[in-house]
Amino acid sequence: MSETVLILGATSAIARATAAAFAARGAALYLASRDMDELERIAADLKLRYNVEVHHGLFDAEATETHEAFFQAVIEEMRRLSGVVLAFGYLGDQQAARDFNAGAKVIASNFTGAASILSHCANYFEPLKNGFIIGISSVAGDRGRQSNYVYGAAKGALSLYLQGLRNRLFASGVRVITIKPGFVDTAMTYGMPKLFLVASPQAIGERIVRTLDKSADVVYLPWFWRYIMLIIQHIPEPLFKRLKL
Ligand SMILES: NC(=O)c1ccc[n+]([C@@H]2O[C@H](COP(=O)([O-])OP(=O)(O)OC[C@H]3O[C@@H](n4cnc5c(N)ncnc54)[C@H](OP(=O)(O)O)[C@@H]3O)[C@@H](O)[C@H]2O)c1
Repeated sequence: MSETVLILGATSAIARATAAAFAARGAALYLASRDMDELERIAADLKLRYNVEVHHGLFDAEATETHEAFFQAVIEEMRRLSGVVLAFGYLGDQQAARDFNAGAKVIASNFTGAASILSHCANYFEPLKNGFIIGISSVAGDRGRQSNYVYGAAKGALSLYLQGLRNRLFASGVRVITIKPGFVDTAMTYGMPKLFLVASPQAIGERIVRTLDKSADVVYLPWFWRYIMLIIQHIPEPLFKRLKL
């Protein structure tokens, strides 16, 4: 039976590439985000290029009160789901660190909204004893830095949440995969100074889908970020706090 995959935050550059890689292997898709016009364009393009079933619908990560009905509507429309890719994210700006209301939006988009929709996904897959959840977190969640610690804290919380979910769902045979990209060339990083080792969203999307054919639980993309973050995590705190990062 072919795969049926829900992609949350489907207008993101990484999500588009992931959707294309799933479509290339014949998966039926449900694309969700806040921008219905853009979703319609992406869905039409994927249908044309890959001749697969593509549905789309409105999803706002911050509107947690709508998540249960949203997820039920997806199941009714798709009849069944084999997996979910959680791709939405919001970087925010420098204000997020100085102004709690700006920071709260970053936390709500990247963590609270993710925890809310993932609870519905997990409750669906657990009794089926089948399925996968791929959550896109970030290397930014591995250590707090002055330049983006609100986003980093939200992504760090998401990584921990996914780790706990993996532990809970292991016995049911449901896979939970945490993706930690480094810098990727998307709208999120557009115009940022001092970026290095920037990957293309296409390469990241293809690798995300390929993780399903491997046994890894936490995947750094590209692979070398695992070692970069290992070094960063091991810098002693008395030294780390003096660095301009
Ligand atoms: N680019 C990087 O260097 C990088 C590095 C590490 C991790 N990541 C993570 O990778 C994922 C994809 O990022 P990207 O770079 O491809 O991002 P992007 O092109 O900027 O897209 C971000 C996506 O998040 C969606 N989104 C934001 N707030 C939302 C909300 N409240 N409800 C629903 N959707 C929301 C947006 O959808 P709409 O506006 O259409 O609703 C948009 O599709 C994100 O989780 C990001 O944090 C990115």
